[in-house]
Amino acid sequence: MTSVLFSPLDLGPVRVPNRIAIAPMCQYSATDGCATDWHLQLVMNYAMSGAATVILEATGVTREGRISHGCLGLYSDACEYALGRVLHAARAVALPGTKFGIQLAHAGRKASTHVNWMGSGPLRAGESPWRTIAPSPLPYGENWHVPTELDDAEINATIDAFAQATRRAVRLGFDIIEVHAAHGYLIHEFHSPIANKRTDKWGGDAERRLRFPMAVAEAVRAEAPRGVALGARITGTDYLDDGLKVEDAVRMATEFKKRDYDFICVSSGNIVLGGRPASGVAFNVPNAARVRAEAGIVTRTAGLIAEPRQAEEIVATRGVDQIAIARAQIDDPRWGWRAAEKLGVKLELPPQMRRVTTGQWAGLQLVRPQG
Ligand SMILES: Cc1cc2nc3c(=O)[nH]c(=O)nc-3n(C[C@H](O)[C@H](O)[C@H](O)COP(=O)(O)O)c2cc1C
Repeated sequence: MTSVLFSPLDLGPVRVPNRIAIAPMCQYSATDGCATDWHLQLVMNYAMSGAATVILEATGVTREGRISHGCLGLYSDACEYALGRVLHAARAVALPGTKFGIQLAHAGRKASTHVNWMGSGPLRAGESPWRTIAPSPLPYGENWHVPTELDDAEINATIDAFAQATRRAVRLGFDIIEVHAAHGYLIHEFHSPIANKRTDKWGGDAERRLRFPMAVAEAVRAEAPRGVALGARITGTDYLDDGLKVEDAVRMATEFKKRDYDFICVSSGNIVLGGRPASGVAFNVPNAARVRAEAGIVTRTAGLIAEPRQAEEIVATRGVDQIAIARAQIDDPRWGWRAAEKLGVKLELPPQMRRVTTGQWAGLQLVRPQG
């Protein structure tokens, strides 16, 4: 069988040998933004997973732009050095063709929270909370921090922080840079009428609400050489009557494309607390397909995609170029190997690991019957 999932894809200038991506996943395991040994093992495992595209977790462009005290950052030389160690080690063991990306982010009004396993709620007095910022002084949810409304100077400084973090990411040699414009963080907050109530040039109608996102897009573009693939993760819907709809996602993707962005990843939800209803298998696919069809840009999606055949069907027949897996990857760090097996594709493995696939190991899971 010829597999579309295991066929190459061009993310602009960057060719990946298959269409499996690992979605960005916060690990809450950094020290003052610096990657630790936790990231080292994680990303080295990602590198061998069989997914050709690896996108590292949301990485704060400023210290205050991190979600929690444990989130990764790229705002200091120390952060840059620590991430360089991880990237260098992961590249050394990566399966052929694996490309590494970083997701640049600012958490906006969703910053200053507990790490995920402590409940993700806002930090309280005594827990070293910090001042959060947003387009408008509206909290994310009840009892959350009331963010400071950004003034022009801080808006420009934040845009500049994206540029500076891009310079660091380029210096580190990332193949891909993804701007995080989804999940209720700062860029999404400017885009969505739910969080942006401004009446100056940064708010108002759809075009004005895109000003800040596009100013960031341009700042990142200006710092990234053409050989680096640039993309953005956007929201396909806010799931709210007054919120962003798929038409807004198409518009945003089109604007990114006009600025020479190479790909879009369509996700959804979380502009307000509880703002993502329970959803079914591959729930973002219809919006992603619409974005791809109407904006004409390479499109990835994620969200409850866990089965290789389902992933194959999505890229082969449902109008999406690339799929990303998050929780399935944690559940099975060799998800890409299993997918290759199930789809009858031979994955090029490092010589040290080839014996597991030659049937010499009786307990063998890798040669279990196809099914
Ligand atoms: C532990 C964890 C951390 C996450 N961190 C991020 C993140 O840093 N950036 C992001 O855009 N999405 C993040 N997400 C969302 C995932 O990238 C993905 O879109 C979501 O989990 C749905 O995919 P899945 O059903 O394959 O898990 C995270 C998800 C999980 C489970």
